[in-house]
Amino acid sequence: MARRIAVLGSTGSIGTQTLDVARRHPDKIEVVALAVGRRVKEALEQAREFGVRYVASNMDAGEFDALGLEVPEGVELAFGSDAVAALTQLPEVDVVVNALVGAAGLQASYETLRAGKVLALANKESLVVGGDLIMPLASKVDEQRRAAGLAPDHGPAGALMPIDSEHGAIYQCLIGEEAREVERLWVTASGGPFRGKKSCELKDITAKQALAHPTWNMGPKITIDSSTLMNKGLEVIEAHHLFTMPYDRISVVVQPQSAIHSMVEFSDGSVKAHLGTTDMRIPIQYALSYPERWDAPVTPLDFTKLGSLQFDAPDVETFRCLALARAAGERGGTLPCVMNAANEIAVAAFLAGEGSYLGIAECVEIVMDAHDVQPVESIGQLLEIDSWARARARDNIR
Ligand SMILES: NC(=O)c1ccc[n+]([C@@H]2O[C@H](COP(=O)([O-])OP(=O)(O)OC[C@H]3O[C@@H](n4cnc5c(N)ncnc54)[C@H](OP(=O)(O)O)[C@@H]3O)[C@@H](O)[C@H]2O)c1
Repeated sequence: MARRIAVLGSTGSIGTQTLDVARRHPDKIEVVALAVGRRVKEALEQAREFGVRYVASNMDAGEFDALGLEVPEGVELAFGSDAVAALTQLPEVDVVVNALVGAAGLQASYETLRAGKVLALANKESLVVGGDLIMPLASKVDEQRRAAGLAPDHGPAGALMPIDSEHGAIYQCLIGEEAREVERLWVTASGGPFRGKKSCELKDITAKQALAHPTWNMGPKITIDSSTLMNKGLEVIEAHHLFTMPYDRISVVVQPQSAIHSMVEFSDGSVKAHLGTTDMRIPIQYALSYPERWDAPVTPLDFTKLGSLQFDAPDVETFRCLALARAAGERGGTLPCVMNAANEIAVAAFLAGEGSYLGIAECVEIVMDAHDVQPVESIGQLLEIDSWARARARDNIR
């Protein structure tokens, strides 16, 4: 039977690549719901192509009316953030692909697992902000899947499937292994477009320069995060939650070719690495096909053409966001929520030409320092703290 999926963020980089995977496997994937921010016209075209009934947009009904667009027959269009999150509850949906950007994805991740559905997660910010709430829910859904005979005989039960290529890589390296024999996770980083540069060379960087990523083609927010290494910091926190790994056993290594997507080191000194073509459709497809493997969505890596593989330590003095995110993760509680919110505001300001490149780390640090850390208790508490951090960050754009 085909897996029935909802794609949240269907017009974005991950969303469109998810639909491409669905296009290649019409017998295995049925797209039943789509959610977008403002690009409703594109979403309605997607709905037409895939025969989707449910579409939600974060714009309001009045704004939509002003566009004068026609809703295709058979499509139910709803508006607002609640309508986006409500798609996760549809009985027709088995798997939710959360490809929203930022903390805006938290509610949907939470509601997906609360409804006992599989969460295919690209929105790493959900785990950064709410990992303490989401992981216990994922364990519960894993148990339900085992009890219902939906889990494979070997390996994880598959309630929370990471789409991030690094975490998808680690997920696969861990299959068949004993948790107590895992020594270290090695999260690889491309190093971004400014690898090798020092702070004095980065002060006049423009958004256009920072948006030119050397190896991955992604949405604007994650592209800036990749250039500051904040993305790697978010991924360290994501790895901590997903794989229950203490921070001192998660290392980052720069691998500029992005051919190695991450590695796992074991107690006997053996290291397993996951390699592949630099194309997100591979990890997206794995998150949807698990525990099966389907035909490759892209040309596999030709090792005779790969050339050399390079490895470097990350420069955390210059790229301070990585150190700030790691510090937030290590301190835990509500600090990662604050760090993430401040980063979202600082990145948006930089993209709008209102803040400087180096000002992103400065803003994040100021807001983190101003926060009185609390244990994570509820989504409501996180949303409140997120708003506080955003307001504080807006006052500290540098
Ligand atoms: N791109 C990658 O290669 C990659 C790799 C690993 C992980 N990720 C993670 O995946 C997530 C998505 O990244 P992306 O690069 O695909 O971003 P993107 O290209 O900017 O796309 C974001 C999508 O989310 C929609 N959206 C944004 N805010 C929304 C809201 N409040 N309500 C409903 N829809 C909303 C956008 O709709 P509109 O188009 O209408 O604005 C768009 O469809 C991020 O968390 C990122 O860190 C991305």
